[in-house]
Order: sequence, then structure tokens, then C-alpha cells
Amino acid sequence: MQKNNFLSILDLSYQEIQEMLDRGVRIKKNRRFNEVLKDKSLIMIFEKASTRTRVSFEVAIKELGGNSIFMTPMESQLGRSEPLKDTARVLARYGHALIVRTYAQENLQELAQYAQIPIFNALTDMFHPCQVMSDLLTISERSPDLFSLKIAWIGDGNNMANSWINLANRFRINLYIATPKGYEPNSEVLQEALDNGARITLTQDPLEAVRDANYINTDVWSSMGQDREEATKQEFMPFQVNSELLENAPSHAKVLHCLPAHRGEEITEEVLESSRSIVWDQAENRLHMQKVLLEKFMTKV
Ligand code: CP
Ligand code: NVA
Repeated sequence: MQKNNFLSILDLSYQEIQEMLDRGVRIKKNRRFNEVLKDKSLIMIFEKASTRTRVSFEVAIKELGGNSIFMTPMESQLGRSEPLKDTARVLARYGHALIVRTYAQENLQELAQYAQIPIFNALTDMFHPCQVMSDLLTISERSPDLFSLKIAWIGDGNNMANSWINLANRFRINLYIATPKGYEPNSEVLQEALDNGARITLTQDPLEAVRDANYINTDVWSSMGQDREEATKQEFMPFQVNSELLENAPSHAKVLHCLPAHRGEEITEEVLESSRSIVWDQAENRLHMQKVLLEKFMTKV
């Protein structure tokens, strides 16, 4: 059985990302059931909450003819300290892939080492690659010439920001990241991208990031497992995506948010519900991109 993991965007080449975007557009236009995953069971281990990722994967698996099994630590022996490496070896004998939402990226690496079936990263503290693939699809539907765009990231240098950096590493988008001091993205992920010639600018000035931007991304100020205090969140207030900030961006600039959104924190109700916001299309595209990912990584299994 060939091993085929999607642990981060760096598991894809530029060419593959391009092909996957094209495939996403085609799948979206023609939403049909098929049998790509016939007789396959995909096991989903979620150690954190999820609405979009869980449901879009489950629907995608169903529409591709497969079977999904959802597990949380509370309902499994993982919650009673059965080691990951034991869980991995057992589940690999039942199922055909693991779709995993967990804390440390190293957990996925351990699963990948012990389970000889594909592993999909459904979010870790470090990366959220499935999400940024569908975000790129959402942008490319509107702006096919991705290289001419300025894409801004405003807020926390979190798993989403790290994944955007990986995209900029593989795919030469022009990325501006504005975070408060001390909340920058992962330095190794950034350095690797810069060493590879990525076009990334880090700033602490949200106005610089949104000026001339075509797309403006944001995300929560306190990712799952962090529970930042109110005082910390005050440091982020200048990075709120609100009407005042958008006055400094072109009128055509669109706003993305992977959701769930915390209205009044990283984004205002007014902006989220405005015509600038493309978050619902962005959320829909999770389903189409999950199918692309499943097709890509499961067809060789
Ligand atoms: N955007 C995203 O991953 O949402 P969920 O946490 O609901 O899966
Ligand atoms: N950065 C957020 C993304 C949620 C989809 C988190 O990790 O909680």
C-alpha cells in the first residue's frame, strides 16, 4: 500500500496545487455522487471541536461512495491514555485513511509513522492545510491570476497564518502578514518560505497590509486550546477587521474568515455581514476541496 499523507501544504508541489484548484472548480460545477471511495472506510479522530471540517469531510466521503467513522478521545481509549502509536497501528488494520484534528503537529507525524494508511491534517496548532486550499479556491474563482494579487493576513500568527506562509512558499502569491508584536507566525515555517524565495512581508501595521490588498484574511485571536485572556486580546484591537480598517483598502477588496468568527473581536458584525465578506462561499468550498483532497490522496491507496 502506497503511503500518501497530507500533513501540510508542503506535501504538495506548485503543479499539484494548480491542478487541484482546477479540479475544485470542476467538482463544484457538477456536484455528483461517484465511487472514488467505494468500499473504503475513513476514520476521523477529532481531539478538538469542529463544524465545517467534520461535516464537509463526512459529506464529501459519502458523496464519493465511502464510509466515515467519527471518534473523539472521550468516546475512545485515546481518552484513557492508549498511546497514539498503538491506536494508529490498530486503526490502520480497519480503515483506509485517518483524518485527524489534534494539538501538536508531531502527533500527526507519529500517526504517519505507525499507520501505513494516508493521514489528513484536519487542523493542528501549527497548520490547517485543508482550509487554506479551499480559501485559495475561493480566491481563484474570483481572481484567476493569483500572482498579481496582494493577499493580507490580519491578526494572530496562528495555524492559519502558518498555512498561508506554506502556500506562499509553494505558490508565489504576494502575502502581507500583520500581527501584533509577539504574535508573529512560526519563525521556522517563515524562514523556510523566505529561503525558498516566497514573497512574504511581515508587519505590525495593519494599514500597510490592507493597502492595495485584493483579499483580507483574518481569524480568531484565541485559537482552540489557547484561551487567551481579555487583556491579551486588547493587544489585538488595532488588528480588528472593521469598516475603518477597510477604508484603507481598495473598495473591491474582499474579506475572508475561516470561521467560526468572534464578532466584535477579530471582525465586526458589520464587515462579516457586508458585501465585502465572502465567508459563506469560502465555507461552502470546504466541501468541494475536501473531495479534491480525498481524490488526490486516496486514489493510489
Ligand atoms: N474553519 C474550520 O475549520 O471550522 P471548524 O472548526 O468548524 O471545522
Ligand atoms: N485558528 C483557529 C482555526 C479554527 C478553524 C483555531 O485553531 O482554533
